[in-house]
Amino acid sequence: MADGFQFAFTPEIERVTAPAWEKVKAHVTPMEWRLHAPLIAEINRLKRQKNAVILAHNYMTPEIFHGVGDYVGDSLGLAKEAARSDAAVIIQAGVHFMAETSKILSPDKRVLIPDLRAGCSLASSITGADVRLIKQRYPGLPVVTYVNTTADVKAETDICCTSANAVQVVEEAARQWGVDRVILIPDEFLARNVARQTEVKIIAWQGRCEVHERFNRDDILELRAAYPNAEILAHPECPTEVIELSDFTGSTAAMNDYVLTRKPKQVVLITECSMADNVAGDAPETEFVRPCNLCPHMKRISLENIYEALLHDRYEVTVDPAIAARARLAVQRMIDLPPPAAPARYDLVKARHHVAVELI
Ligand code: 13P
Ligand code: SF4
Repeated sequence: MADGFQFAFTPEIERVTAPAWEKVKAHVTPMEWRLHAPLIAEINRLKRQKNAVILAHNYMTPEIFHGVGDYVGDSLGLAKEAARSDAAVIIQAGVHFMAETSKILSPDKRVLIPDLRAGCSLASSITGADVRLIKQRYPGLPVVTYVNTTADVKAETDICCTSANAVQVVEEAARQWGVDRVILIPDEFLARNVARQTEVKIIAWQGRCEVHERFNRDDILELRAAYPNAEILAHPECPTEVIELSDFTGSTAAMNDYVLTRKPKQVVLITECSMADNVAGDAPETEFVRPCNLCPHMKRISLENIYEALLHDRYEVTVDPAIAARARLAVQRMIDLPPPAAPARYDLVKARHHVAVELI
């Protein structure tokens, strides 16, 4: 139980939290809501008092996403919001690399993460020292780094990317450096999936997202057989065999846009579990088939520890200023690119061809 707080579900709290309840009531029971709602109301009061903003990733649970998130979205959207926000405090409802990215972009703000253990298997797959060795091995080639990395790794990087803009960043890096090969680290599957959508040759690292790597070809074939009319959307951190059998691949924000724009009758989101719950709150006409894998790191963030983070100003995320300055160049280069073009027809995002990548 969050310390110092009285959990009374009063009529006034019921009234102020009613809009969030409307979004989550398909996935949260009334009994749970009577526990969540007082915390939501108190978190929203403390935010105003402390001039704090909550940046919540699409994988947060629905009561966080719809109840207290001031800005919700994918990694690219959260990074842009961190750069433009004028709040004094950023609470990162997401994982540690996202909080570091916010600090890199907003060094004068206090950046807090409710649980310092909220890591990421991709971020822990590579170090700055690894990147220095890669650069020695491939001199003259640009290093494109997924934002799912530590500040130390970003500091060794030429330009960052997210799953929303990886193809665009790779092509831009090849153009600016005047080369036909680009190093894209650390997610092997993202690299393989980008390679299928560009003529630029890709050199990849063997990092994996522990959540998305668990989906496989048989999962998709079984879904196709059981739900022949469902549209299947997969995150680009999934294995290539999964992407090949899906109807669309895109970042969490792109999947959200797909559902809200195309309004499919039935959809499957091949990604983290909370994603479907959150999109469903805004897409009442779509039926969601829900195979999913939980991200144990994202799931460390709760309403209780967000409340405690605000109350006690914890846990502050800091980045060595010299590392932050170098990392900022790589993140800012990405942010300064024009927004990735929205696909005219989403299904055209399917790959042009299957291409081998060079593994480091
Ligand atoms: P998005 O950038 O698509 O939100 O993905 C972040 C992430 O961690 C996916 O696993
Ligand atoms: Fe990292 Fe995968 Fe979790 Fe995203 S879902 S934070 S990539 S482990």
